[in-house]
Amino acid sequence: MNEQTLTVGLDERSYPIFIGSNVLASVAPRLEAHPVGKRYAIISDETVAGIYGQRLLDALTKAGIGCSLITFPAGEEHKTSSTVTRLASELAQQGFDRGDALIALGGGVVGDITGFLASIYMRGIPFVQIPTTLLSQVDSSVGGKTGVDIPEGKNLIGTFYQPRAVFIDIDVLATLPEQELRGGLAEVIKYGVILDAAFFQRLLEQREQILDLEPSALIPMIRTCCAIKAQVVEEDEREGGLRRILNFGHTIGHAVEAASGFEIIHGFAVAIGMQAAAELAGLADYGDARVAVAIREILEAYGLPTEIPSSLDRAMIRRYLLSDKKTVDGRIFFVLPTTIGRVTVTDQVAEEAIDAVLNRE
Ligand code: NAD
Ligand code: GLY
Repeated sequence: MNEQTLTVGLDERSYPIFIGSNVLASVAPRLEAHPVGKRYAIISDETVAGIYGQRLLDALTKAGIGCSLITFPAGEEHKTSSTVTRLASELAQQGFDRGDALIALGGGVVGDITGFLASIYMRGIPFVQIPTTLLSQVDSSVGGKTGVDIPEGKNLIGTFYQPRAVFIDIDVLATLPEQELRGGLAEVIKYGVILDAAFFQRLLEQREQILDLEPSALIPMIRTCCAIKAQVVEEDEREGGLRRILNFGHTIGHAVEAASGFEIIHGFAVAIGMQAAAELAGLADYGDARVAVAIREILEAYGLPTEIPSSLDRAMIRRYLLSDKKTVDGRIFFVLPTTIGRVTVTDQVAEEAIDAVLNRE
């Protein structure tokens, strides 16, 4: 099997990440050899469950592992505490107890909900991640951020709770809608900008193989992203400092996403946010203008948007910037690229520079 393994090193909470082709088929034998619970509830959304749920259920059952599949409708609008409560009731009705475990089978919505549920059900039970979108494979399944949305904002309720293992099967990306794949690539590019210039260059060179989902390009690509994320999380699990660099592109990106009423998908909003942050870095004298040019070039090469749509209300974007989780006492913190491979986190950006970037034609 073409597979790579990494470890997220967090002492007694360390866990492996398996990345490769056909990894889904290895979940049952691996859980048989290294159980994390007596039996398992696979939590998935209806779309992913419809494609991969039965296969996983059958494989676990065949290996003699007790399991059941519990689903909820797909979509960010279901990442709520009422979904969590409903899932918890199902678990309780099926007699799941402290010795049991959850399996998150799906994208970031499923991963965030399942991790949150695992962290609070009976005051905490173990869980593993089987991420099925590129975004969740390179970002949300690793690092232990869990949570749900409330009307006042995304991810405003949540916990830090690490999974026991992450199983990344690149084959599942074949059924992912094209737009979701491209959105995930925005997060991939993010890692190159924040910490790895050589990786950024490789992404430019291997564009075709990556878009064609060639395992020889995809597996090392996902591995690099997970290795960078693991390195950051090992140093700063609870986002006291360094971990904030993972929010590159997300400050303006989240505001654009919210101002669009979530019509613009997360990854596309992050692409727009990365371009805006690069331009802000130039205007605020943190980085040179070539950084913004290089970022625009790679985003366009991957068919990602770089401009804030003119239809979006700038005043509304401004208001969302002020309600960002990272904004403290009205000071907006930006992650700005100083060069490809390095960023700085600052709240020292002139209002005029922010307006100039938001209002650029
Ligand atoms: P998602 O989970 O909503 O998945 C996108 C869509 O793709 C859904 O409709 C899903 O049913 C479908 N899908 C998933 N896998 C598929 C497959 N293999 N084949 C066909 N369809 C498939 O979205 P996402 O982009 O994976 O995750 C976004 C969420 O992740 C947001 O809620 C965001 O806040 C969260 N997030 C969390 C972290 C973290 O560190 N915890 C980091 C980044 C994002
Ligand atoms: N996706 C940002 C983080 O995990 O910190």
